[in-house]
Amino acid sequence: MSKPLELVATCALGLEGLLEEELARLGVADRARHKGAIGFHGDWRDVWRANWRLRTANRVLVTLDSWPAEDGDALAAGAGRLVARRERSWGGLDCTTLFQPHRTLAVRATSSASVLRDVRWINLRVKDGLVDAQRQAYGRRSSVDKSSPDLPLRIWLHKDRATLLLDTSGEPLDRRGYRVQSTEAPVRETIAAACVLASRWDGSGPVVDPMCGSGSLLAEAGSLVLGRAPGWLRTGWSFQRLPNYDQERFQAIRREPIPAGADGLELHGVDRSPEAIEAARANLAQAQLGEHARLVCGDAFEFQPPATAGLLLVNPPYGTRLEGGRDQWRRLGDLMKQRYPGWRAVVLAGDTDRGKHIGLRPSQRMPVRNGPLDARILVFDLY
Ligand SMILES: C[S@@+](CC[C@H](N)C(=O)[O-])C[C@H]1O[C@@H](n2cnc3c(N)ncnc32)[C@H](O)[C@@H]1O
Repeated sequence: MSKPLELVATCALGLEGLLEEELARLGVADRARHKGAIGFHGDWRDVWRANWRLRTANRVLVTLDSWPAEDGDALAAGAGRLVARRERSWGGLDCTTLFQPHRTLAVRATSSASVLRDVRWINLRVKDGLVDAQRQAYGRRSSVDKSSPDLPLRIWLHKDRATLLLDTSGEPLDRRGYRVQSTEAPVRETIAAACVLASRWDGSGPVVDPMCGSGSLLAEAGSLVLGRAPGWLRTGWSFQRLPNYDQERFQAIRREPIPAGADGLELHGVDRSPEAIEAARANLAQAQLGEHARLVCGDAFEFQPPATAGLLLVNPPYGTRLEGGRDQWRRLGDLMKQRYPGWRAVVLAGDTDRGKHIGLRPSQRMPVRNGPLDARILVFDLY
């Protein structure tokens, strides 16, 4: 039996807890929490399943090697040694097969607390180390393809130690495949999914987003309730280009049942911008949720929600990207109290302090990095 793979699922800062719970639900036992990532062990089927099923992860990576790299020569030499050690294998995928020169590659670096800091130079040294060793071993070298490489490699330098990883996702996992139209400030799909997961909602009752923008929160709620994998509309992942990819085994993973909520999904979206409603309609249709969605152009404060309590999701406009002030937060708090009694509510507050003005006590407050912004996921039980 081959040694288990050392795997890493990355996520937005703040979502580590939710990602870890997702992995636990997939049966992953040995998890290690890091900043913006969860480490775990598994085999290639775990890699495929994680890419297919994780809603809050950005990418799934396989650790290939790790070595001390205090200077550029040590960095390049470590990368070269990896290619030269042909007996090396990762869960049955051997080094000779992986680093065949007909496969294109690209390296992307990050560096923290290390002497080497220039990420472009780090990329270059690692790439040179790899391709020089290929030339020695095979007489030929891989070409670099930055946009769609067969081997998307990551090099993480931390405290002068280099870790080389293979990105098995390719396009980040938030690219679900349903966003055909965008609006001014769409929330990333992984964060929208985090809002739904953070609510601990059991999937019963309607879902309302009274400021729905392009419909991401509704799309993620719908996908969860219908038990659809987040990746079901994607055209592919980079693991499918690896030599050990087994289509039949991946199909079996795709057929594994996913827990679903109650029948009768109802998604209600409101936005005062006609363009936003048009985008939400297009995106929800692409997500094959159109038949469940009722979208209206109007004011959130005028909308009359369904009588049955359900899940209220809202991502109000905020500072850096859209306007939004103290009064609007207070109004939103009043609206939640008055019109949504008995509902579970999640507010994605776009910057750190505005959510304070809502005038309600959240049962949970989760700081999260939403692209360049510090945001908060606030969960409320409305009485
Ligand atoms: C931050 S965006 C929501 C983005 C959305 N979550 C997405 O992923 O696309 C805020 C939205 O609230 C809408 N909005 C602001 N005030 C509103 C109001 N009073 N009634 C309805 N929509 C409103 C804006 O038009 C904008 O589309």
